Amino acid sequence: MEVKEALLKRRSVRKFTDEPVLKEQIEELLHAAMSGPSACNRQPWEFYVITNESVLEELKTASKFSKMSAKLAIIVCGNVDRALPDPISSYWIQDCSAATENILLRAVDLGLGAVWCGLHPQRRPEEKVRGLLGIDEKQIPMNIIYIGHPAEEPGARDQYDEERVHYIG
Ligand SMILES: Cc1cc2nc3c(=O)[nH]c(=O)nc-3n(C[C@H](O)[C@H](O)[C@H](O)COP(=O)(O)O)c2cc1C
Repeated sequence: MEVKEALLKRRSVRKFTDEPVLKEQIEELLHAAMSGPSACNRQPWEFYVITNESVLEELKTASKFSKMSAKLAIIVCGNVDRALPDPISSYWIQDCSAATENILLRAVDLGLGAVWCGLHPQRRPEEKVRGLLGIDEKQIPMNIIYIGHPAEEPGARDQYDEERVHYIG
């Protein structure tokens, strides 16, 4: 698929069929994630791949905006130990966001649907997911990406708005 087509087709998909995502597809998604840019190439990310039904069910309690039923969730975490030092340590958020967008775009390319559900900087949802994953404070859950075979098809669209573009020069 052309990059432009994937960019326009990428929409948040929140309803999925029961068909599981194949292991090979999960690996493709993770390769895409880790191809992303990161400040000083620190790659301060960790990915938790959840296919366990009961954990997926528990994830729904993390936030009232992330109660999707999917066969797969990838939780993207920032690893503070791999991040740059202060005052630029929070570049990890941008690094993990680039990795997340790569997952969303590769999902489209593979015929899958996905939605980015934000956690960080919401303290309670972060803590909830940290507890579920059994990880310490060195890892900050940034989002839950639910992924699956789409049971809804939001249309492709272009949100281009020339008023938001400022040419200097
Ligand atoms: C940082 C971030 C947090 C988001 N959190 C949620 C969320 O908690 N639940 C949800 O259903 N969608 C969430 N979304 C998806 C947005 O609602 C969605 O991207 C936006 O409405 C535009 O629609 P589109 O993705 O179809 O282009 C989030 C997106 C981003 C980038």
